[in-house]
Amino acid sequence: MTEIRQYPDISHLAEAMADYIVARCKSAIQENNQFTLVLTGGSTPRSLYSLLATEAYAEQIDWSRVHVFWGDERCVPLDHPDSNFRLAQETLLDHVPIPAENIYPMNGEIDPAQAAAEYEHQLRMFFGKNADPIFDLLLLGMGEDGHTASLFPETAAIHEEARWAIAHHVDKLGAWRLTLTPVVINEAEHVAFIVAGANKAEALKHVVSGPYLPFDYPSQIVKPLSGHLIWFIDQAAGHLLAEGLE
Ligand code: 6PG
Repeated sequence: MTEIRQYPDISHLAEAMADYIVARCKSAIQENNQFTLVLTGGSTPRSLYSLLATEAYAEQIDWSRVHVFWGDERCVPLDHPDSNFRLAQETLLDHVPIPAENIYPMNGEIDPAQAAAEYEHQLRMFFGKNADPIFDLLLLGMGEDGHTASLFPETAAIHEEARWAIAHHVDKLGAWRLTLTPVVINEAEHVAFIVAGANKAEALKHVVSGPYLPFDYPSQIVKPLSGHLIWFIDQAAGHLLAEGLE
């Protein structure tokens, strides 16, 4: 069951999502003494991450028990303006007492295929031999073309069924990307999209209420086995969806 939570604007959306993340964090730590969180890249989460870094939110989280991963990364140096790691570091991780060893960036600085293999190895080591990669919470954004993480339309990565992380050259970007695959994304206990802006409305309508065409709208491949999928959207992104959203 896909749950859609719509808010008037990005600041209300960020507040609601920050409250949700805190709640997920507290229950995961209560249950397993740790909280495994996958961050999304892009620009939309900037206000969410900055809000989580404020005292009002940061003090609600036991950062010593939080482990942070990424859903995808650009193949650029970690201090490059386009780096998803740098976005999270600047807005959140540099401002909270999370141990450095609890931060697991994808390495955009080395050969992409090697970086993907190393990240998969890191995940397998973290979750343990023969264990499934069940993240407590996996955040995702969505592009205007319906892509998510770095699963772009008409790329084989959408239908990857074995590997946990892959590197691929995204022709439409003319760039290499690292990304978790649907194998990992759909194992997550909770998956939450953050989508804002009128420029996402057309794609969002197709993804949540159009025919199932994940090769064209890769966000449709996200169907967590747990069934816990929530879309946090603003009014602008949701204005083409069926009436009746709260
Ligand atoms: C990335 C992403 C990507 C992003 C969407 C939305 O590395 O760009 O992780 O999937 O979430 O492209 O990006 P915006 O939030 O900038 O619109």
